[in-house]
Amino acid sequence: DWSMPSFIEKTVEDIKNLVKEDEKVICALSGGIDSTVTALLVHKAIGDRLIPIFVNNGVLRKNEPEEVLSLMKSLGLKVDYVDASSLFLERLKGVEDPEKKRKIIGETFIEVFEKEAKKFDNVVYLAQGTLYPDVIESVSFKGPSATIKSHHNVGGLPERMHLKLIEPLRELFKDEVRKIAELLGLPKHIIWRQPFPGPGLAIRIIGEVSEEKLDILREADAIVREEMLNSGWYYKVWQSFAVLLPVKTVGVMGDARTYEYVVAIRCVESQDAMTADWVKLPYDLLERLSNRIINEVKGVNRVVYDISSKPPATIEWE
Ligand code: XMP
Repeated sequence: DWSMPSFIEKTVEDIKNLVKEDEKVICALSGGIDSTVTALLVHKAIGDRLIPIFVNNGVLRKNEPEEVLSLMKSLGLKVDYVDASSLFLERLKGVEDPEKKRKIIGETFIEVFEKEAKKFDNVVYLAQGTLYPDVIESVSFKGPSATIKSHHNVGGLPERMHLKLIEPLRELFKDEVRKIAELLGLPKHIIWRQPFPGPGLAIRIIGEVSEEKLDILREADAIVREEMLNSGWYYKVWQSFAVLLPVKTVGVMGDARTYEYVVAIRCVESQDAMTADWVKLPYDLLERLSNRIINEVKGVNRVVYDISSKPPATIEWE
């Protein structure tokens, strides 16, 4: 049971002692709390000998790269930004299978990250935001999440790149990381950010991913996010997001018949993502979501609400 201020002090001291004067540390930023706190702790210890790398994988949400970069800047981190979106999207072309999409995104990430890291001299360590539950899971590795869907993270990188690992959070649970984040001055929207999967919007576009579909989903997702935040529901639920179905249905606009995509809204409450219940959102909020998505997002003429719980449905649609 740590007191968090002394945890920060001790961790920073340990990293200072570990990393020699001429050595550098790299880390991958996702914009989420774990990688951000990890980067901040290492940065406190060794300053700009930490090289935080942020890879745009082409399947991020609306404005996400800009928002992550400006947050990191405000926290004093000098981020190495790699826009690899065209490479990822090229490789995802024609791929419909969810597990194949995950695999392509995971492998391409490792490749891009490895290539980028080689540009820097004297990199000896990789810092990762592994938490205690991740440590347990990778030891037993029997959880349904591991067998039903392959969850992608940076695993495998350290051995391939001959890097030593720094995992300052590996003894902590999420609520402890949140306390540390607060002490380090991270904003509320990062500390309480809903989980976002590594493969990003690629597993929320059912079937093949394309620029056109990404544009549509980004707009719909931004509306869901905005309305959830404005209504106060964003922080009450586990996850809330839009899914783009590869199905067109008939609608009518003025005198004209339309034939456009369907967006599904998914909103669940959960403790640990192993089980989840769909949330009984108020009708007026659902109505606003539907009206705004249909009116504001070109290419969508129908919105449905997902009323399935986990199990047997999963949280994500892929
Ligand atoms: P499911 O869909 O399995 O999701 O009920 C459980 C939780 O895990 C997230 N998720 C992922 N996270 N890579 C990730 O980093 C993935 O491939 C992945 N698939 C699902 C999902 O958002 C939910 O929080």
